[in-house]
Amino acid sequence: MADFHALRQRLQRAGQPHLLNFYDRLTSDAQHSLLTQIESIDLESLPVLVRDYVLGKPPIDLPPDIEPAPYYPHDPASPVRPWDSDAFRAAGERLLRAGKVACFTVAGGQGTRLGYDGPKGCYPAGAVTGRPLFQFFAEGIRKTGEKYGVLPPWYVMTSPLNHDATVAFFEDRDYFGLRRDAVMFFPQGTMPSFDLQTGRILLASPGEIATNPDGHGGSLLALEVSGALEDMRRRGVEHISYFQVDNPIVRVADPVFLGLHATAPDSSSEMSSKMLAKAYPEEKLGIFCVAGGRVRIIEYSDLPIERQRERLPDGRLRFLAGSPAIHILSVEFVERLNSDPAFALPWHRAEKKVPCIDPDTGERIEPREPNAVKLERFVFDAIPLARASIVYEADRTEEFAPIKNADGVDSPRTSRDIQTLRAARWLEAAGVRVPWKDATTPDCTIELSPITAIEAGDVAGIAPHLQIRRAARIAL
Ligand code: UTP
Repeated sequence: MADFHALRQRLQRAGQPHLLNFYDRLTSDAQHSLLTQIESIDLESLPVLVRDYVLGKPPIDLPPDIEPAPYYPHDPASPVRPWDSDAFRAAGERLLRAGKVACFTVAGGQGTRLGYDGPKGCYPAGAVTGRPLFQFFAEGIRKTGEKYGVLPPWYVMTSPLNHDATVAFFEDRDYFGLRRDAVMFFPQGTMPSFDLQTGRILLASPGEIATNPDGHGGSLLALEVSGALEDMRRRGVEHISYFQVDNPIVRVADPVFLGLHATAPDSSSEMSSKMLAKAYPEEKLGIFCVAGGRVRIIEYSDLPIERQRERLPDGRLRFLAGSPAIHILSVEFVERLNSDPAFALPWHRAEKKVPCIDPDTGERIEPREPNAVKLERFVFDAIPLARASIVYEADRTEEFAPIKNADGVDSPRTSRDIQTLRAARWLEAAGVRVPWKDATTPDCTIELSPITAIEAGDVAGIAPHLQIRRAARIAL
């Protein structure tokens, strides 16, 4: 009880005494659970955090010397910066053959914009068969294993909110043909959600604190505390191919990118990134910049729009490089960061709608407007912590078909269209006649299993006599 009294006092000092408002009415199990939840919060640092990030908004602190980041263009013959992609591909393939690469999917997000009832990775994304997102990645990993003779192990970061449902999904589907010991799941950390007006931690129910996953940046610590890094070391893995759960056509382990990351003269092999040429200045992608001699991503909402509209004499955007959130990190880099007791990525603040109870009356609140502040860490804030970080241009149609929103841009529909467009291009390059509505719209729907193809060359010869009729729906 002395401990309980001390905890009450600590809560008082932290400005959060309401967390015990319903304590006396809880069962002893629920009391124990609530105390455990409270103990997991760093109460002592809360007042400053709440002042600076919940009640206040941290100022946008832009470095004075922002310039566009250099990058390796998708076309290695581009006059922007010619480079030898064959050599880097060979270097990346050697890493894959030697088993030095792991795949890593961050799947702990809440996917609120999509509004799908379940972990986002279970979403039926395939253009024809409704293949789930996780299946795309599993098959991409199997195909990579087939090509290079070594199956890359796959690490899937969940959150405490979707962990069990994610694992059950894999169990139900027999791990999509992967060996069980090749897949490791681990939950990321969480943060309490805060009341937007008062800075008080929200209660989801009388005995439960409302929490949110602590952002994809939480993956760096979660890799360490879960034992995933140690597991990688044991398997001889040196590089982590990082991608998000929302992009079905991502290349799960790209040899050219791996080769650049590990061997390019301007890379420290610590953290590297893919970029996409922004389609228009207002496009909502983080922007690769250099400041203070380090590559970094600045959020689109932070870089003044006039700067984002700047153009080069040839008409191209000066700040062209947008982030599709595809990275490679070395195991050593993540270990180095975690070994520093002072290491912490910065918090980012987002206003959200979070169902909760009134802390005084216990009445349920289903907010129609944002009522809460969520604090998250972003993985890209680690880029400037690398000594030298390279950026490699990806082709949009080849590897970016994200599912973020229920409708409109970056939705299931746009993703299916891009899947079809990419498949149509690959098939046509292999000699298959494809019907088109116009130059960028096939008059059919095609879904390619990654087991069939993870790059254009894989399609050669698979269906030499294939006939695709107008409006056909084809899964290969
Ligand atoms: P998003 O920024 O799209 O966030 O995540 P979200 O939570 O999935 O979706 P909304 O904003 O609620 O609609 C980008 C990637 O980072 C992962 C997501 O699962 C997705 O792969 N992520 C995000 C995490 O793993 N953990 C987090 O805490 C947040």
